[in-house]
Amino acid sequence: MNSLRSTDIATATPLGHDMPAKIEVRGVRKRYDANGNVEALSGVDLTVKSGEFVCLVGPSGCGKSTVLRMIAGLHKPSEGEILVHASGARTVPTAMVFQNYNVFPWKTIQANVRFGLEMTGMASAEADKRATLWLGKMGLGDFADAYPPALSGGMLQRVAIARAMAVEPEILLMDEPFAALDAQHRRILQDELLQLWQEDRRTVVFVTHSLEEALLLGDRVVVMSARPGKIIAEIQVPFARPRSPDIRADPTFAKLEQELWSLLREQVGKHAA
Ligand SMILES: Nc1ncnc2c1ncn2[C@@H]1O[C@H](COP(=O)(O)OP(=O)(O)OP(=O)(O)O)[C@@H](O)[C@H]1O
Ligand SMILES: [Mg+2]
Repeated sequence: MNSLRSTDIATATPLGHDMPAKIEVRGVRKRYDANGNVEALSGVDLTVKSGEFVCLVGPSGCGKSTVLRMIAGLHKPSEGEILVHASGARTVPTAMVFQNYNVFPWKTIQANVRFGLEMTGMASAEADKRATLWLGKMGLGDFADAYPPALSGGMLQRVAIARAMAVEPEILLMDEPFAALDAQHRRILQDELLQLWQEDRRTVVFVTHSLEEALLLGDRVVVMSARPGKIIAEIQVPFARPRSPDIRADPTFAKLEQELWSLLREQVGKHAA
């Protein structure tokens, strides 16, 4: 595996090396038997530390969503194991945010966020209070009683993030959460998530096709090969926290994006062939 490090940059590693592992993916292979024996993953090893923001990039179909679904416990590995070290202090180990919002159109915004909380067994009054708090944090306080069809894509994705964050999961799993947004809204949501994350440093595994997004948000960017996916490289992102969105204009940022792209381009080419 390549391990890219920009040694010419004054590195401020954002996370202590002594943080405990939160997620351990060990020798994981995944085969889907239903669809004519698709080998999705061929031996993935990945450790995510507590409080680390890890971005997963790789060509379409390489198994990124599969990794997230297995961490969430929705699918089981065909071989190997996945350990999620929940502290026990929180009630919900993982929450997922998807590309397509997944909100209920017949429920109000408030009820959508409350729903996730009630699923954890939280009493209604407490769930309401928590939903109000997170809608406020996501700038949706005035839309609590609105219904999803009245909201833009960017606002719906804020609802989905509020719903996931409100349950205060130990691990937030985000599967291309901004991919459906236009470029301007995408950028705004990236900046908001950067800020929000820096306030409470939850463990995050974030899948994206955007190298810029990965470098802006992540402590570490992990690159996967074409299917059957495995990890071929990773880069420790050298920008200190709290980060400003202005790092997009840093020459190092462009250099790292180029390095990541040269690794990924080969893999995308393989997939297309
Ligand atoms: N439930 C399933 N049944 C059968 N095959 C599946 C299933 N889910 C995924 N696959 C296959 O496994 C492979 C990996 O899929 P996965 O969705 O994890 O990739 P991905 O990296 O998330 O792709 P994308 O970037 O397009 O979202 C693909 O070939 C896909 O068709
Ligand atoms: Mg996917």
